[in-house]
Amino acid sequence: MKYIASIDQGTTSTRCIIFNKQGEIVSVGQKEHEQIFPQAGWVEHNPEEIRQNTLEVIANARIKQNIGIPDILACGITNQRETAMVWNRKTGKPYYNAIVWQDTRVGKKVDELEKSIGSAWFKEKTGLPLATYFSGLKIQWILENVEGVREAAEKGEAIFGNMDTYTVWHLTGGIDGGLHLTDVTNASRTQLMNINTMEWEDEILEKLNIPKAMLPRIEPSSKVYGKIKSEPLRGVPLAGILGDQQAALVGQTCYAPGEAKNTYGTGCFMLMNTGTEAIPSKFGLLTTVAYQFDGQRVHYALEGSVAIAGALVQWLRDNLGIIKNSEDVQKLAESVDDNGGAYFVPAFSGLYAPHWNNNARGIIAGLTRYVNKGHIARAVLEATAYQTRDVLEAMEKDSGIEIKSLRVDGGMTVNELLMQFQSDIMDVEVIRPKMIETTALGAAYAAGMAVGFWKNFDDLTQNWGIDKTWESKMPSEKRDKYFKGWKKAIERSLDWED
Ligand code: G3P
Repeated sequence: MKYIASIDQGTTSTRCIIFNKQGEIVSVGQKEHEQIFPQAGWVEHNPEEIRQNTLEVIANARIKQNIGIPDILACGITNQRETAMVWNRKTGKPYYNAIVWQDTRVGKKVDELEKSIGSAWFKEKTGLPLATYFSGLKIQWILENVEGVREAAEKGEAIFGNMDTYTVWHLTGGIDGGLHLTDVTNASRTQLMNINTMEWEDEILEKLNIPKAMLPRIEPSSKVYGKIKSEPLRGVPLAGILGDQQAALVGQTCYAPGEAKNTYGTGCFMLMNTGTEAIPSKFGLLTTVAYQFDGQRVHYALEGSVAIAGALVQWLRDNLGIIKNSEDVQKLAESVDDNGGAYFVPAFSGLYAPHWNNNARGIIAGLTRYVNKGHIARAVLEATAYQTRDVLEAMEKDSGIEIKSLRVDGGMTVNELLMQFQSDIMDVEVIRPKMIETTALGAAYAAGMAVGFWKNFDDLTQNWGIDKTWESKMPSEKRDKYFKGWKKAIERSLDWED
């Protein structure tokens, strides 16, 4: 048997999943890493820890099923996007922790730029509005706040990468000639790449004062970039890179314009394939690169990004201790019939799509003495569904396509209560495929296509199948009443910080 390995460097954990030709999981290695919160609004990861974990999970995935290197034909990488780091190419040492996509430390900078240049200028060039979310301002923060980085960056000694670039660099040799590259999807999230030319945008680099010498080379998402030199996959071609949400789109086989998926992970991200045209958004979505297979044209997507989804369940577990394990949230939510009037707006990193309000903060609204922890658990789950409806409405307006059914994936889709409520609150059919690890699968598809393991998109589409479908059961008056409550709660969360 021959296989494709996929490394998924996510926000909370790093995994290696090995897939067979049918797109089925053969083996998994997984390890969580520490979430570092040095101050309110700051979120960091230790890159060294992630590097070690990556090697460990690859070795574990191989060992568990006794898979030899010659049986692995290629390896793909997918990653939490936007998370930014800078390291020294001669020593391999990071200058600072990785600044995670959810981090809001550049909030004041965003406000300043909004006033001096305006969001529209950035949006026109990159498809992205000004926000704390993207990599550019995080790189600028490191250049301005960590001693010695700027000088080294100008010489090309201090180099930038998202987690894909950092992982590729280490796996392909590190200080001994590691490849310094990224793919078009990850580059499209830095706010430094021109969305039409696929090149670094000089005018933005100049405005943010970021030396071009520190940036990686931009490559397609599916291509043999080189060979892995690290022990657990030595000699295996590295052949696919995709940001995790784009990888899920590929894994869900959404290759035709108009096809969309929603992934429920740390955050929640809906992407719709818009074909070879970059469609500017008027309703608060992002224009982003969906994928590019080697030798083919770039495909674009419209994206609705929600910062906090599964992370809110974790918060309930870790910060409030209301539940012991994340899975317990469903049982607790089922202990009551509805939210008891409570709404939870998890604007922990401001609000992303469609509001893009970096001064929003989290609130729980509608409390009375009646509300108990069951209602709060319910409000936590419902928050993800309401945010998804906000995004879906924007998606329909921007694309002019009525979405009648939505393909879902990611860890939270095992939560049946959430899936039913999701369908109820949108009045849209929700479809969960047999394979919900579509992120890792998408990166495997990109790598496998590059080495001819899968020959074409039809090969991939054949692997997709439905596990379960949810239809809306909620009367429309009830739906409208609930959604009105959510809208009120959102209003109260906006512009909390000034
Ligand atoms: O843009 C951030 C996204 O890539 C993170 O994905 O799966 O870690 O929530 P996830």
